[in-house]
Amino acid sequence: MSRILTGIQATGRPHLGNILGAIEPALALSASQPAPSFFFIANLHTLTAVKDASTLQENTLEVAAAWLACGLDTRKDVFYRQSAIPEVTELTWYLNCCTPFPMLANAHSFKDKSAHLAEVNAGLFTYPVLMAADILLYQADVVPVGKDQKQHLEMTRDIASAFNRAFGETLVLPEARISEAVMTIPGIDGRKMSKSYNNYLNIFEEEKALRKRVMQIVTDSTPVEAPKNPDTCNVMAIYRLVAPATDVAALEARYRSGGMGYGEAKQALFEALLTRFATARERYAELKKDPAQIIHQLEEGEARAREIAHGMLDRVRKAIGFA
Ligand code: ADP
Ligand code: TRP
Repeated sequence: MSRILTGIQATGRPHLGNILGAIEPALALSASQPAPSFFFIANLHTLTAVKDASTLQENTLEVAAAWLACGLDTRKDVFYRQSAIPEVTELTWYLNCCTPFPMLANAHSFKDKSAHLAEVNAGLFTYPVLMAADILLYQADVVPVGKDQKQHLEMTRDIASAFNRAFGETLVLPEARISEAVMTIPGIDGRKMSKSYNNYLNIFEEEKALRKRVMQIVTDSTPVEAPKNPDTCNVMAIYRLVAPATDVAALEARYRSGGMGYGEAKQALFEALLTRFATARERYAELKKDPAQIIHQLEEGEARAREIAHGMLDRVRKAIGFA
């Protein structure tokens, strides 16, 4: 039996890429086994980028509502805010002292920003160490993430090995589980869907706003009557991920035969999104009306997480000789 754990940053309402690439695969993996999984909102990581209390709070609630709406069952799984278990920062310090500088200097999360060093804070630099602590504190075996997080998982294993070499076998080396089926979800401009590119679809948005966004998907200028290539179209790329296989085949055929404008394909995608996420959208709207209910579920998870964190830190302190 393996323990599954993953975190999602509190950088705003999760978009379709987050849901298909991270939340749904993680929930499916968790559902495949009886042991509780660990899901948390990585709001300490978000602090490396966001410096506004109400934004942090609002984003945390949005992320929590999204996970619950997508089906996270807090009666089974442990759901918590990273910030509510401050033990993780103590473990981060111990791990910092086992992490070579060049490893961190080589991390994508830092390297991508290293051209503007004045804007890099120390939290961003040691980001992978906090992430290692997130995982190692709960002795996770399997960590479902997008492929952009693969390097962080490799670092986690390296850091854990370094700690174990120095202080004896204490930390469990986790395995990354990269979702092969979906991998990178494309955005409305064809690049990777990401908050930072502002090219995302927000499936929890009001219908009208969601439809407007779908209509903004970038397409080429092939005239309505001409046949179109479904394999190079941004609308089709997303449609394939959310519509049933028979509908996908039917729409592909319409692309190839010509006589269909992209507006029609976009409408089909919009409707497919509403159908695919009908339950999640309904639950999300309910949860947003009752934030106290979200907080309550988080607090229950935090009590469970805290107990495990305490036990593990005791062992770590003993291993280091601090007990
Ligand atoms: P963003 O790029 O929008 O800032 P994050 O970096 O916060 O998204 O990603 C949160 C989680 O969602 C990660 O596990 C990441 O791998 C996954 N993810 C984000 N965007 C995509 C995407 N376009 N396709 C697949 N997975 C994604
Ligand atoms: N760095 C991850 C991301 O940006 C979020 C994260 C933080 C995480 N701690 C984690 C993911 C631990 C998995 C396990 O998506």
